[in-house]
Amino acid sequence: MFRKLIDKLKKSPKTIVFTEGTDPRILEAGSRLLAATFLEPILIGKEDEVHAAAEEAGFNIRGATIIDPEKYEEMDAMVQKMVELRKGKMTEEQCRDALLHANYFGTMLVAMGKADCLLGGATYSTADTIRPALQLVKTKPGNKIVSSCFIMVRPGATGENEVLAMADCAVNIKPAEDELVEIAVETAKCARIFGIDPKVAFLSYSTHGSGKGEDVDKMRNACAKAKELMPDVPVDGEMQFDAASSPVVARTKGLTGPVGGHANTFIFPDINAGNIGYKIAQRLGNFDAYGPILLGLNAPINDLSRGCNAFEVYSMAIITAALA
Ligand SMILES: CC(C)(COP(=O)(O)OP(=O)(O)OC[C@H]1O[C@@H](n2cnc3c(N)ncnc32)[C@H](O)[C@@H]1OP(=O)(O)O)[C@@H](O)C(=O)NCCC(=O)NCCS
Repeated sequence: MFRKLIDKLKKSPKTIVFTEGTDPRILEAGSRLLAATFLEPILIGKEDEVHAAAEEAGFNIRGATIIDPEKYEEMDAMVQKMVELRKGKMTEEQCRDALLHANYFGTMLVAMGKADCLLGGATYSTADTIRPALQLVKTKPGNKIVSSCFIMVRPGATGENEVLAMADCAVNIKPAEDELVEIAVETAKCARIFGIDPKVAFLSYSTHGSGKGEDVDKMRNACAKAKELMPDVPVDGEMQFDAASSPVVARTKGLTGPVGGHANTFIFPDINAGNIGYKIAQRLGNFDAYGPILLGLNAPINDLSRGCNAFEVYSMAIITAALA
């Protein structure tokens, strides 16, 4: 999977902002990217502190662009642009204060086209990484929400990797019916980028009416709308996870279409189910989890887990830039 993404980047190298320029995991990934040359890191932080941290951790970041918000020459223009983007919701003073923080400053570098994409969250919470993106980079034309998916990868029995997409496990807490439709459409698109030929299952505690309730109706209705919007993609639901993933259970529960038993793109009803679900696959199913990959944003901005390691930073940087 990564070979294809790297080949894409080699043809069209990108710049990526790391908001936590002094973090050893970022510095390790940054030094690896500098050596590889298909993705140029921009580290946010005070130059002397970033160099001192790199030296202490033993990573060579010679040639990296380091930007200190306090010394940024185009700060006045950035403040003006941020005021404009916030459309009366933040004063000039509030924008100037916010821009001293790497999450807002880095996001504005992307919003102003000074960088192609951003990866943050090694020390910031998910909400503090995502919020500036929601406020400043905003949704793509035609999209109503930003959502997210995880790409799950583990070695398959035939030697090929098994690759799945799961959504929305990280952003929308209780998505409404139409939001679930948008999540499914964006996740199917994202799945394709990672080599998945999407078969989309809308998950529930019910399979085709076996259970009753508002949440069941919501998933069934969302599924019907998603089918209309994606006539070329196999979409089915509502269905239970076992019916979606096991051909035997799918047959037993009367599912005859191409999705039951063979789903590879899973749409969860809410963040509780999604977040718990992808972590079960990760911890008990031995899948590597890449994400959350934000969907529907005007530019690729992604969030790291605070428990991430340098390899995950490096991998997520490639994924983020390949979406630019
Ligand atoms: C994403 C999240 C941080 C947004 O929360 P928030 O900042 O409190 O949201 P607010 O309602 O104050 O909205 C802030 C801005 O973002 C926008 N926004 C919020 N959610 C959005 C979404 N899903 N898509 C697009 N825009 C969104 C709002 O419209 C608002 O824009 P405005 O300031 O220009 O009016 C929140 O949904 C969240 O905490 N999600 C769960 C994150 C999490 O803990 N994940 C689990 C770990 S991976």
